[in-house]
Amino acid sequence: SRNIRLAVIPGDGIGVEVVAEGLKVLQAVGAKAETTTYDLGAKRYHATGEVLTDVVLDELRGYDAILLGAVGDPSVPPGVLERDLLLKLRFRLDHYVNLRPVKLFPGVETPLGGARPEDIDMIVVREGTEGPYAGAGGVMRRDTPQEIATQESLNTAFGVERVVRYAFDKARSRPRRKLTLVHKTNVLTYAGDLWSRTFDRVGQEYPEVQTDYCHVDAASMFFVTQPERFDVIVTDNLFGDILTDIGAAVAGGIGLAASGNVNPDRTAPSMFEPVHGSAPDIAGQGKADPTATILSVAMLLDHLGLAEEAARVEQAVADDLLERQTGWTARTTHEIGDDIAARVAG
Ligand code: NAD
Ligand code: IPM
Ligand code: MN
Repeated sequence: SRNIRLAVIPGDGIGVEVVAEGLKVLQAVGAKAETTTYDLGAKRYHATGEVLTDVVLDELRGYDAILLGAVGDPSVPPGVLERDLLLKLRFRLDHYVNLRPVKLFPGVETPLGGARPEDIDMIVVREGTEGPYAGAGGVMRRDTPQEIATQESLNTAFGVERVVRYAFDKARSRPRRKLTLVHKTNVLTYAGDLWSRTFDRVGQEYPEVQTDYCHVDAASMFFVTQPERFDVIVTDNLFGDILTDIGAAVAGGIGLAASGNVNPDRTAPSMFEPVHGSAPDIAGQGKADPTATILSVAMLLDHLGLAEEAARVEQAVADDLLERQTGWTARTTHEIGDDIAARVAG
């Protein structure tokens, strides 16, 4: 297979630990990857005051893909690394599809009593460049009893249509061919109206896809009570963020949840990362599960057209997860990575 030019951003906390295991598996699967590591994150910020310069951002455009661990650190004010590093990457590289599978692997314990793998098998297509993440905001009379904080949600016809269209294509390619729009049209009437009109209009081009609508509060409940309702979901940036942590929990935990920040038009590299964060509470202790990152590597391989390698990584994870069921003993981050890498190598 061809050489992958990969930019690696381990980031903060457990990001560094899990990315090392992801790269181990990438190597084990035999993908020829030429990796360049970028030390972006809390350490760099403290040392230089820089988060992500335009020079570095432009350099990143030259890669085939980006693998990211996690960013965020208790020593840095909230939002600095999250917004100026992670969200800047997603926005500027036009990652308008944040692809987040919610899938229960056989043998994995779920808090939903009787749920079987066929009951929890969905893909959340989370919008990645707009919504409350991109809207204007401001504060007046800060630190007074009269303080006013505003935070708008930005939704464009162009931005909503492209992600909705992607979701319909995705739904059409899956056996169940069902797409659910999740929003809050009963309260967020302006944005909700744009989303539902776009959904209905684009849906006319996909008569073979069964459509449904759910308010986000009810969808949160159904994730737990009736996950089998969902096949593909398309939703706003913030709703998708929250729903996919619920999804992670019902599918066996945040340590297993993978994601891809995808630029479907391929005008810039896509970026793959676990759904979880830097987990300062367990960082540096070898307790982080690298499985989410390893599954994100599988998504990366798939995105680059290496479907066979992607499938081998996913199968190795599935086998490892099945084995955890019986006689499982706690393993460190490295041990899990080693075990999955060994299975991948055959
Ligand atoms: P978190 O996902 O980092 O941690 C939530 C809980 O899940 C913690 O108890 C943690 O120990 C556990 N956990 C997370 N990943 C795990 C793994 N691989 N294995 C085992 N346990 C795991 O979320 P948080 O605590 O809300 O945020 C911590 C920091 O991470 C914040 O700075 C936040 O902004 C940032 N964050 C970054 C990303 C990202 O880079 N994509 C995502 C979420 C949060
Ligand atoms: C995620 C994270 C990010 C988000 C934060 C860290 C900006 O929670 O990737 O899910 O809200 O998208
Ligand atoms: Mn999140």
